[in-house]
Amino acid sequence: MNPTQSDKNTRREFIKSAGRASAAMALAGMIATRAYAGSSDLIQVALIGCGGRGSGAAKNALSTTSGPIRLVAMADAYEDRLHGSFKALSKEFPTTEKMDVPEGRRYVGFDAYKQAMDCLKPGDVAIFATPMAFRWVHFQYAIEKKLNVFMEKPLTADGPTSLRMLKLGEESVAKNLKVGVGLMSRHARNLQELHKRIQDGELGDIIAMRGYRMQGPVGHFNTLPKPKDISELDYQVQRFHALLWAGGGAFSDFYIHIIDHLSWMKDAWPVKAMGVGGRHYRSAGRGVDYVDQNFDSYSVEYTYADGSKMFFDGRCMTGAENSYCSYVHGSKGLAIASRAQDCGAICHLQGPAGRQGQADLAIDRHQQPLSERMG
Ligand SMILES: NC(=O)c1ccc[n+]([C@@H]2O[C@H](COP(=O)([O-])OP(=O)(O)OC[C@H]3O[C@@H](n4cnc5c(N)ncnc54)[C@H](O)[C@@H]3O)[C@@H](O)[C@H]2O)c1
Repeated sequence: MNPTQSDKNTRREFIKSAGRASAAMALAGMIATRAYAGSSDLIQVALIGCGGRGSGAAKNALSTTSGPIRLVAMADAYEDRLHGSFKALSKEFPTTEKMDVPEGRRYVGFDAYKQAMDCLKPGDVAIFATPMAFRWVHFQYAIEKKLNVFMEKPLTADGPTSLRMLKLGEESVAKNLKVGVGLMSRHARNLQELHKRIQDGELGDIIAMRGYRMQGPVGHFNTLPKPKDISELDYQVQRFHALLWAGGGAFSDFYIHIIDHLSWMKDAWPVKAMGVGGRHYRSAGRGVDYVDQNFDSYSVEYTYADGSKMFFDGRCMTGAENSYCSYVHGSKGLAIASRAQDCGAICHLQGPAGRQGQADLAIDRHQQPLSERMG
């Protein structure tokens, strides 16, 4: 069936107007709209940061079925990372219909982001999956180029950069651009259902929320001193989980999802945070110490404007009890938001009889699952 002119307009128009709606939409949701074919409606994509998540995000984008979409440019600070990602994606998408990135559109270096975005036209999509430190730089350029953006979390780890990002966010809205951020809990159907039921009043007033991510060290949490054969910059950028300026550290990178989804359940952001943390296990053995800026454990009490609290505990220690889950306590009952991980992927119903077997959602008016906190 041939598309009509109004169909042709729909896809780009959709992206434009949806940009106003939410700052936290995942990539597929950002690109998807109703089925449509027509080459003038082609969405071109540039991938900036071709590591694990970037390659995954590009695959997610190219797998959408709502209309023509094509990866046309790739950029990475390092040749080997770009090459590996290009090879893997080419295997997945062997035809130029989905992926057309000849050598001349594969850019390497810290300025490569500009060259990749220069390949796009207004209304196309840039994916940012570099370490956090570069986020605002890339976002600023995308806004100049009138590009829609999917960018991975975290976005900032300090006050001045947060203010700058908020300003850039306003500019992107003023330009009608759509910006999605990789806070994927918001796309989990079970959490969407729980959010709706909480907003409908099923739990009463939210009194407190609890979140836990207690696990062994992940990513570059534990980082050894710089080897001689690498520059200081490359060393820091490549171990971004270790350094607050580069990746936000364990707290911003790994804990953001639970903090985000619990605040979403309450539909509010905290107005105050009081935290403690420390590092005891610093030794890597043989007289060598880890040099990263992370703590072994973090505990933060967040306060919302109405006086209610959220408690978050994070821990990165080998050989300790693991717990990766979240809870919402209301005046009428308790909900398990996530029994495991950031999206509550394997939640099971704990509620009263009659509700059993429903979606991955747990609400218990008798507040019984407290004992299952470590489950
Ligand atoms: N939403 C999620 O759950 C989720 C999951 C994993 C990672 N992430 C986020 O995605 C980002 C990337 O993580 P990753 O695991 O893919 O790391 P990674 O190290 O695999 O990939 C990062 C890539 O960016 C490249 N890079 C670094 N600086 C660059 C620059 N200035 N310009 C261009 N390329 C640059 C690196 O060479 C590397 O290829 C991080 O911010 C991380 O927090 C989010």
